[in-house]
Amino acid sequence: MKHYLLAAIAAVIIPVVAQAQLKVNVTVDTDVTDGQIIPKEIYGQFAEHLGSCIYGGLWVGPESEIPNVDGYRKDVLDALIELKVPVMRWPGGCFADEYHWRDGIGPRENRPRMVNSNWGGTVEDNSFGTHEFLNLCEMIGCEPYISGNVGSGTVEELAKWVEYMTAADGPMARLRAENGRVEPWKVKYLGVGNESWGCGGNMLPEYYSHLYRRYQTYCRDYSGNHLYKVASGATDYDYNWTEVLMKNIGSLMHGVSLHYYTVKGWNGSKGSATVFTEQEYYNTLAKAVGVEPVIIKHIGIMDQYDPEKKVDLLLDEWGTWFDVEPGTNPGHLFQQNTMRDAMVAALSLNIFHKYTERLKMANIAQIANVLQSMVLTHGDKMVLTPTYHTFRMYNVHQDAMYLPSACDSPKFIDELERECPVVDATASRSQDGTIHVTLTNTNLDEAAEITVDLGAKGGKVTAAEVLTAADVHDYNAFDKPEIVKPVEFKDFKVKGGKIIVKMPAMSIVSLTVES
Ligand code: AHR
Repeated sequence: MKHYLLAAIAAVIIPVVAQAQLKVNVTVDTDVTDGQIIPKEIYGQFAEHLGSCIYGGLWVGPESEIPNVDGYRKDVLDALIELKVPVMRWPGGCFADEYHWRDGIGPRENRPRMVNSNWGGTVEDNSFGTHEFLNLCEMIGCEPYISGNVGSGTVEELAKWVEYMTAADGPMARLRAENGRVEPWKVKYLGVGNESWGCGGNMLPEYYSHLYRRYQTYCRDYSGNHLYKVASGATDYDYNWTEVLMKNIGSLMHGVSLHYYTVKGWNGSKGSATVFTEQEYYNTLAKAVGVEPVIIKHIGIMDQYDPEKKVDLLLDEWGTWFDVEPGTNPGHLFQQNTMRDAMVAALSLNIFHKYTERLKMANIAQIANVLQSMVLTHGDKMVLTPTYHTFRMYNVHQDAMYLPSACDSPKFIDELERECPVVDATASRSQDGTIHVTLTNTNLDEAAEITVDLGAKGGKVTAAEVLTAADVHDYNAFDKPEIVKPVEFKDFKVKGGKIIVKMPAMSIVSLTVES
């Protein structure tokens, strides 16, 4: 998009770029030696019993004609292993506060059915339960994050679930062994409720804090397993919720959650995932980067009560939320995923990297077929979404040392006076010394020339990839699964120790640099 066009759609645009091509300098501080490590959990995932996230998305059952490994879709398994999923949150979401884990163990044919009243009234047959989830985590090598039922459950029910999953001996361990699993699983993350201010029980923060105290008391560490307990935190701008929890239970929790969705509004249409104007594109990005001041403010409150940073902030639900695809169940939240979603993912991850002193996890919603998914499935077909490709390109930053960077990009400002950088960057150094720089050009139809300065030592680019599309509305359809995918990137050169990158419009470029 030309800048004069930007000016036409927005109330204000600063600064207007005079030259034909946008030129931006990115200076990476490569002298950092004891900086913050970007926890791999920033790349976390969320899988809820919602629509076809679990059934059809992750699980088809061992009898299915769709190629599977013990009931898990083979294509999705392979994609998730390649993605390096570090942690997966399950079984919800809102579903978690109506989930009774005993319904999901034992022979599948004997498991009771229930109505998934949160999500379209679909009948849930409980064929995917505790064993199926924890075994999946083991297969793809990720930490399980169990979201416990506080809203409609009991302390005893959650306490026994922890015992069932993690104790080596005792009645729950014997029951687990009867159901085919002798060894306890390792379960680190335990969420004590979900959105307890809303679908998780419509509580007030004071009441939730008191309930949390009881629940957490009886969720024990068994057999060398150490629980990391997460209090159900605030939504978006509810700073009072964070404040009350920090005051009342700050010493009893390891982490407190936060939810932030890139959504136009909760009432009325949320806009189509694939049909949108240029203005809506910029509105979406502006809303996405609006997570930064929200994170800063919640962290500010936490700092007051916990200056030693003992309690972590976990953004355990985030991502785009649009209208469902026409003709699909409104309660199933199935949406397509375009280059716009890839941009949201990149800009969001760039922000998360900056706050990892306190922000220790982020789980995108959701892993399959729901909201901003990694994969979409239909029958035996599967596509990797542009968001998947962004996550795959970014996974080099997992557990790497964050290298702060300065970027002198102009910003666009939308009609609601929300700002978003035109060009953005993030960088890290892996344990083997390799530097990874990831650049984002959000501009819809202007290329940008980025000069990346890695300091005196400079560096040699050993690999580079680009994710872009012919059109921002492009997506991977079941009959055209490779419309948007990363390819090798060659449009860069090294001059005077700096890397000059010619970024196409609407693109994400990753550079691997040996110095
Ligand atoms: O991710 C969909 C829903 O969004 C979750 O179930 C809930 O926690 C949130 O409101």
